[in-house]
Amino acid sequence: MTNAITFRKPREIHIRPAVNSDLLGLIALDEEITGLAKRKYWKETFARYGARRRLSRFFLVAEYRGRIEGFIIGEVRAWEFGEPPCGWIFTVQVRPKTRLKGIGTQLFETLCDAFRHAGVQKVRTMMARDNQLVLSFFRSQGMMAGPFIELEAALD
Ligand SMILES: CC(C)(COP(=O)(O)OP(=O)(O)OC[C@H]1O[C@@H](n2cnc3c(N)ncnc32)[C@H](O)[C@@H]1OP(=O)(O)O)[C@@H](O)C(=O)NCCC(=O)NCCS
Repeated sequence: MTNAITFRKPREIHIRPAVNSDLLGLIALDEEITGLAKRKYWKETFARYGARRRLSRFFLVAEYRGRIEGFIIGEVRAWEFGEPPCGWIFTVQVRPKTRLKGIGTQLFETLCDAFRHAGVQKVRTMMARDNQLVLSFFRSQGMMAGPFIELEAALD
């Protein structure tokens, strides 16, 4: 027997912009996934990317029967690294019990539609090199290695 939720049809999932009343559910979902309660971080992120900033900042949730099952956050950024505006994806997360049912794909595609609507032609993201799960997901969406490399240094 499995605890996984069975969706009769993918369209039962509703992808929509996050609203204020989603905040507690988002904090709980992130805590379920990461094991860390980051209330301050999520309040600040929500204030920055939440419902009132829809032209270039996007915070989308996947809702199923009144519960948030996943979310994605992205932003159109211009002239970073000398590049014309492009869409950046900062995070995508789906509740473990509802994964592999297409929710991540629906979130990704809806965000890409929003990016297209904002007039950009490319989508980018950054991820941990050893995160095979997230790499498989983004590769499945057609994403491949881009022209940039990341550099870092410790600040003593
Ligand atoms: C990555 C994630 C968002 C995918 O969500 P999802 O709803 O399961 O994704 P989908 O069902 O739309 O899967 C789309 C494709 O991604 C790939 N994929 C997803 N999960 C996979 C897995 N466990 N193993 C291999 N490939 C996988 C597959 O190609 C899949 O297509 P398929 O089902 O036809 O094989 C989800 O696994 C997750 O939240 N992981 C943790 C994310 C995380 O660490 N985020 C923080 C950094 S951004």
